[in-house]
Amino acid sequence: MDPLQHVRLGTTELEVTRVSLGCATLGGVYSDISDEQAHAVVRTALNAGINFLDTAALYGAGTSELRVGEALRGIPRDSYALATKVGWRFEHVPGPSVFSQTWDSPGAWMVECVHDYSADWVERSLENSLTRLGIDRLDVVHIHDPDEHFEEAMEGAYPVLDRFRSQGVIGAVGAGMNQSEMLVRLARAGDFDCFLLAGRYTILEQGALDELLPLCLQKRISIIAGGTYNSGILASGSQGGPDGVRYDYMEAPPAIVAKVQSMEAAAARHAVDLRAAASQFALAHPAVACIVPGTRRPERVLDNLELVRAEIPAAFWEELRASDLIRSDAPLPA
Ligand SMILES: NC(=O)c1ccc[n+]([C@@H]2O[C@H](COP(=O)([O-])OP(=O)(O)OC[C@H]3O[C@@H](n4cnc5c(N)ncnc54)[C@H](OP(=O)(O)O)[C@@H]3O)[C@@H](O)[C@H]2O)c1
Repeated sequence: MDPLQHVRLGTTELEVTRVSLGCATLGGVYSDISDEQAHAVVRTALNAGINFLDTAALYGAGTSELRVGEALRGIPRDSYALATKVGWRFEHVPGPSVFSQTWDSPGAWMVECVHDYSADWVERSLENSLTRLGIDRLDVVHIHDPDEHFEEAMEGAYPVLDRFRSQGVIGAVGAGMNQSEMLVRLARAGDFDCFLLAGRYTILEQGALDELLPLCLQKRISIIAGGTYNSGILASGSQGGPDGVRYDYMEAPPAIVAKVQSMEAAAARHAVDLRAAASQFALAHPAVACIVPGTRRPERVLDNLELVRAEIPAAFWEELRASDLIRSDAPLPA
């Protein structure tokens, strides 16, 4: 597979590379990095030919956007596309916050985040994002994590984004979250160009095959697949790494660890890197435009490109199917 192939997002004019860059890690998930290291991650990605970055106001309470913006200074605006997200508002609290238990960057200290999909906040949030990023237009804006907030998202945030899109202020309207069900409701209720589906279409779980992915194909909504390493375990392996054995930002449950161990055994039999299998598997679904693996290390940005180029024997996929480790109706990489 060519990780740098350009594909269109929905019916928009935007074209993104099949391997793009997730920037949540640059907001300091679990442990912070220096500004310089974050800039190096972004620059490595752009220098390698990646043209699409996914960030959010939430990531480190603005820290990811600030660092992405600093890294982008001086780079021609037409050479990359950028997505951010709205729907979380920060509130200052006296002292370290619950939020800072997950996000370790300076921006995450002394703030709590609350959902806010009101039109007023969404407009202000977009202005704040543009300021932090140091740019004057956004390519993609997602409604972020409206899990329990369908009405607020559709009545508050969506009309603002829809209007900005029709005025050409933003290029595409999306929603980003960790579940398929609400994205199905949103797809039916609005005119969306793309969704960021995090962790729910991976080599470990494919529930999105039932309804969301066929609906997106039918409505020409592109999926940007996030969390294709399920936020850690498929990259670190079942033994874990410095962040532990992470699955969806939490300690992986035993059933998930056992499943990954079975996959690792199959991968070893066929000399396959499970990270390559995880990345190529997500990209094989025709609704998936791109993946956005996140990392704090510049060299891993390059690894994530190479992993998509790696050859994976058909016998490996056949073994995963035959052992019910992946669903039989999941499209396989060619
Ligand atoms: N609600 C939403 O909209 C939502 C939710 C989740 C994610 N997302 C998007 O999806 C992106 C990716 O998700 P994610 O960061 O949660 O999870 P992910 O991409 O599944 O996994 C990231 C983890 O994998 C490790 N990793 C990355 N490349 C690696 C490599 N080549 N070798 C070994 N380890 C590697 C990273 O560790 P190191 O940093 O140590 O390399 C990091 O801890 C986010 O950045 C964000 O843009 C959106």
